[in-house]
Amino acid sequence: MTEPYSAPAVEAAAPSAPLVTGAPAVSIRELTKSYVLKSETVHALRGVSFDVPEGDYVAIMGPSGSGKSTLLNLLGCLDKPTSGNFYLGQDDVASMTDDELADIRSRRIGFVFQSYNLIQQYTVVENIQVPLYYQGRLGAAEHQRATELAESVGLGDRLDHRPMQLSGGQQQRVAIARSLMNDPYFILADEATGNLDSATTEEILTLFDSLNAEGRTIIMVTHEDEVAARAKRIIRLGDGLLSSERFNSEASREEARVRQQEHVRVLAQRKY
Ligand SMILES: Nc1ncnc2c1ncn2[C@@H]1O[C@H](COP(=O)(O)OP(=O)(O)OP(=O)(O)O)[C@@H](O)[C@H]1O
Ligand SMILES: [Mg+2]
Repeated sequence: MTEPYSAPAVEAAAPSAPLVTGAPAVSIRELTKSYVLKSETVHALRGVSFDVPEGDYVAIMGPSGSGKSTLLNLLGCLDKPTSGNFYLGQDDVASMTDDELADIRSRRIGFVFQSYNLIQQYTVVENIQVPLYYQGRLGAAEHQRATELAESVGLGDRLDHRPMQLSGGQQQRVAIARSLMNDPYFILADEATGNLDSATTEEILTLFDSLNAEGRTIIMVTHEDEVAARAKRIIRLGDGLLSSERFNSEASREEARVRQQEHVRVLAQRKY
């Protein structure tokens, strides 16, 4: 039998508590990941280091095969690095057991996927509560919190709808609310707007803006320059290495916001 995992000494903050402390939410050092195949070894990540302080908003970009998904899998505790360090708060994830990884993944990381990954038989509120099912924590307080999260992402009038009865943007809002249920260290978004049209992409990016303004840390992978332009920082990978890092000024982020909103307005005026 495995030892029960003792939770890190970080209590889940109350939703209204300030989340920005300046301490790194994520810190990775010389992270490598190699996949050993029969005929060869693929060095998907070859020594990547960066910090993501609490309250940051980072876009990870790079050409196909550069290691983005590999990095995301490591950050999401879905996989273990071959070497290097990966700190979440004070905990070195790189040296954790599989059980500890699973625990931290379900309790402290908020996933948002391109394909929403909602459970079709569940209502909006039930989907938002899913991260708690694994912990057996389901009572009136949890139901209330899920309801409040649904309201906070603009789904207050859709609480009992099922995914099939929602638009893509609404489904992604459910996924974002679900990602917040555990008060995660950070939101990990993988092409979160990849399936959405321009107007809905703008809605979701506006929601990310407001979550980040509340202090939520966001790390996302995107192929789209206009999406990455909304983040505070862009980290580019190339051949498994960090190839560049750029900060987006507040002014350039605002310009990107205006550009996208203008684009959506023009589209809405077109007759066909
Ligand atoms: N499970 C695996 N086994 C073997 N090789 C893998 C595995 N996953 C990824 N790779 C290899 O590692 C490298 C990086 O892949 P990764 O999926 O991280 O790229 P990516 O940047 O996400 O690309 P894309 O933009 O196409 O999604 C590639 O050469 C890929 O073929
Ligand atoms: Mg990928």
